[in-house]
Amino acid sequence: MDLSALEAAAREVMEPSAYDYYAGGAETETTLRENVTAWERWRLRPHVLRNVADVTTATSLLGSPVTTPVGVAPAAYQQLAHPEGEAATARGCAAAGALMTVSTLATVSLEDVAAAAPDAPRWFQLYVFTDRGYAGELVERAVTAGYRAIILTVDTPMLGRRWRDERNGFALRDGMRMANVPLDASTGGDIGRGSGLAALFAEHDRGLTFDDVGWLRARAGAVPIVLKGVLRGDDARRGVDAGAAGIWVSNHGGRQLDRAVPTATALGEVADAVGDDAEIVVDGGVRRGVDVLTALALGARGVFVARPALWGLATGGAAGVREVLTGLTDDLAHAAALAGVPDVREVPRDLVTPA
Ligand code: FNR
Ligand code: LAC
Repeated sequence: MDLSALEAAAREVMEPSAYDYYAGGAETETTLRENVTAWERWRLRPHVLRNVADVTTATSLLGSPVTTPVGVAPAAYQQLAHPEGEAATARGCAAAGALMTVSTLATVSLEDVAAAAPDAPRWFQLYVFTDRGYAGELVERAVTAGYRAIILTVDTPMLGRRWRDERNGFALRDGMRMANVPLDASTGGDIGRGSGLAALFAEHDRGLTFDDVGWLRARAGAVPIVLKGVLRGDDARRGVDAGAAGIWVSNHGGRQLDRAVPTATALGEVADAVGDDAEIVVDGGVRRGVDVLTALALGARGVFVARPALWGLATGGAAGVREVLTGLTDDLAHAAALAGVPDVREVPRDLVTPA
């Protein structure tokens, strides 16, 4: 599947400032670009004669069975792509048997996203604002609505500087709001609207530490915690020791710290540090089935995409999201067969070598 053609088609149908918000990264966009090229710096060492008559892509992510290890990463503001927004993404994921992660900054409430595909597994991504009570409420709502993990994003104490958005004066359109974010009585306005992100992230809690993972666990009860935005083995280890059940290797799609290391480079170090003590998932620049296979070899159990799903959503709603996920999964199965790997849960580390 050629995702660059799909991106071009999405660009045709989207408002330019919304396209830039989705496509863009921080500052010079070095990390954004390198996320893609870093996967290309790995090579595969295929096995032969391994009986690949039936390649299975089914696996589980923190105990939830899925048809594919490819899932959708949290992305804010999905009504910019399609009027049904996150609800359509949820239906597309369900149709593909893929896991969806719903952002705190969704334009459809977390309950309505859950209702759009009630039987499908989904995770909730949490931003913690200085009003901790509110974060606690969000976690409670997500647990009640059946979300199966809380994904704490840890790479966003404040928003990265996105030059495209600054140039465009990017804002949510009239009629759209951050459906999970409350009215802010103190400013007399609605912090879920208006210039949006920069103002909102002024209220993000910059004081978070590993100690807060315990606070979050207490609120989430039996629902596991995943730390999203980890790029180092030592931090991953601290996260697991603090009680995280999963580590999400990510640089936020190159939208936060420009020049942060690409995820294809960081993944192996994190996998080594964590071992079997937690599940590892990864995102960033994954655009092909061979990228997914490489990530699985380097130690990921799940591999997530954001922008490709958004391009599918913009061009085809729920069906567009499903096509992206089944396309990537078919390409994964194809690459796995050619590499002599019949089961994506058992991709050997020595399947890959630096180019
Ligand atoms: C994101 N990302 C993101 N992450 C998060 O934890 N909460 C969020 O609300 C958002 N919002 C968001 C919006 C848009 C438009 C994009 C493109 C990304 C980051 C996302 O979850 C993921 O880490 C990267 O985008 C993955 O890289 P690719 O697949 O987009 O290259
Ligand atoms: C972004 C934030 C909202 O990347 O996560 O735009």
